[in-house]
Amino acid sequence: MAETKETTVMGKLVSLAKRRGFVYQSSEIYGGTGSVWDYGPLGVELKRNLRERWWRAMVHQRDDIEGLDAAILMHPRVWEASGHVAGFTDPLVECRNCHRRFRADAPELAGGQCPVCGSRDSFTEPRMFNLMFRTFMGPVEDEAATVYLRPETAQGIYVNFLNVFNASRQKIPFGIAQIGKAFRNEITPGNFIFRTREFEQAEMQYFVEPGTDEQWLEYWKDQRMTWVRDLGIRAENLRFHEHTQEELAHYAKRAYDIQYRFEFGWQEFEGIHNRTDFDLSRHQEYSGKKLEYFDQASQRRYVPYIIETSAGIDRTLLVVLADAYHEEDVEGETRVVLRLNPALAPIKAAVFPLVRKDGMPEIAEKIHATLRAAALPSFYDDGGSIGRRYRRQDEAGTPWCVTVDGQSTQDGTVTIRDRDSLSQIRVPAERIVAWVTEQATKPYAPLPAIP
Ligand code: GAP
Repeated sequence: MAETKETTVMGKLVSLAKRRGFVYQSSEIYGGTGSVWDYGPLGVELKRNLRERWWRAMVHQRDDIEGLDAAILMHPRVWEASGHVAGFTDPLVECRNCHRRFRADAPELAGGQCPVCGSRDSFTEPRMFNLMFRTFMGPVEDEAATVYLRPETAQGIYVNFLNVFNASRQKIPFGIAQIGKAFRNEITPGNFIFRTREFEQAEMQYFVEPGTDEQWLEYWKDQRMTWVRDLGIRAENLRFHEHTQEELAHYAKRAYDIQYRFEFGWQEFEGIHNRTDFDLSRHQEYSGKKLEYFDQASQRRYVPYIIETSAGIDRTLLVVLADAYHEEDVEGETRVVLRLNPALAPIKAAVFPLVRKDGMPEIAEKIHATLRAAALPSFYDDGGSIGRRYRRQDEAGTPWCVTVDGQSTQDGTVTIRDRDSLSQIRVPAERIVAWVTEQATKPYAPLPAIP
């Protein structure tokens, strides 16, 4: 049983994530780096599963989307053209007493009191703070050598639009997808991996004929919500939020967020944006290179409009963890369980010999090796009571525990215990790989939340 003094789900998740090897604070032995996180053995598997699922749905299963992996460092003019040098800013104030800095519009400053030192009305006037990380390319540290760590992956797609188009024989409408790191020097990061300074985005830019953009925006809204639902996120915790005029980014004509109901409120974890021809027109203007499309059928030349789907991999992972986290009472004890979609679960099956004798370890080791050979991540555990072994796997989100017992040595069957229903069935040991494969690839319907 997991004992934890934390009272918030987020606090409990942070400690479970560390205990089980999902997520650690970056450079923890030095006291940690502000809002940067590292993924441990289970976290890295969960993240890879999420990424691969996105890539499969957005690239491999479609004829109309090509993949790309653009560099993080780009020509500095890219960020002038994109509007990020001039406009990717947040208003910042500083407390004159303790010198802590905050976003001027942070709710905790509403009373005029510093949330850190308590001094009143001591804030400086707001000044605009650019969120891009700046560094220098080459051995000279001056303005001419300034480059930025990309704050979104999208721009790498726009500047490669013609390259991909020319190489791929695509016709409009078509898309370019990529997954990669992005960096933002957020003034107030927080809530674990929700808002961090280094994160990963999975973005797809869909190039369409002007005038068809609204219809494609609706199409991508539906596609992306379906994908999110299929992760196994409960429908009651998901909704769309349409941006108001004040919320729209400088490039967007219309935008929707997919929001999740975190315990700290409804929050965006993916955006679907109608970026019009803003980006390609600006790159055309700043680079002097034509970024037009010639439509043979209509004999029309135009700068395509772009519908963007922009998901944060880390933030989606947090949604997956938050939605999967459950505590329930089992025979008077609290069971902490991550009800992860088996397709996402880092470990697909754990294998236990009931006891370390009578031929059971040999059978269990063989099953474990067979699962691994079939690329089904398996965990072998022969330590402690069977109950404790189950609890460890519940916290890791392992959907099935396979136990080799006395009967296994007689008739070759083993028990499989289901993480969510706690039911047990007996299956011939030689069927385990087929059984786990079949179950792990089925659509997953989450159980309702435990009241
Ligand atoms: N290209 C459009 C774009 O970047 P955005 O709404 O700024 O749009 C898209 O970001 C997604 O990237 C967000 O929905 C979120 O999941 C993720 N994201 C943005 N900033 C983040 C941060 N500081 N930490 C973690 N994820 C972030």
